[in-house]
Amino acid sequence: MTSIMVLNGPNLGRLGSREPDIYGSQTLNDIEQGLREILPADITLEFRQSDDEATLIGWLHEAADSRTPVIFNPAAFTHYSYALRDACQIVAETGTPVIEVHLSNPHARESFRHTSVISGAARGVIAGFGDQSYHLALSHILTLLERH
Ligand code: DQA
Repeated sequence: MTSIMVLNGPNLGRLGSREPDIYGSQTLNDIEQGLREILPADITLEFRQSDDEATLIGWLHEAADSRTPVIFNPAAFTHYSYALRDACQIVAETGTPVIEVHLSNPHARESFRHTSVISGAARGVIAGFGDQSYHLALSHILTLLERH
């Protein structure tokens, strides 16, 4: 069975009540359910969230070893975690895509959000479309899987 991992970084478990003017009123569980609604029956979704950098690194290693495509919202780690960038590179080196996603458009926000240390190791970046950022990333991965 083909799997796709959706990994979510720190504070994303608080969506729904966290800064709703920026992130909207959907919870992370709502986003997960929305993705499951468009997921083909023969594909498994591993939807996970952690506030812990080491846990996210471990999941990226798992994705590298199992060649599982990743949709990744690194949240605040986006802006400074070289360890997560290196872990994304480990996935990328196996030929497996990591797509970086953001609910908001970090470039339209505070200057510290304008830098992503992750993007250079990502296949692409989708930001600013709320839960649709995740949907667009999933749609791209499904297209890639069909081509194989
Ligand atoms: C975010 C943007 C980050 O700057 C922020 O730290 C987050 C969420 C987004 O999805 O818009 O936690 O990754």
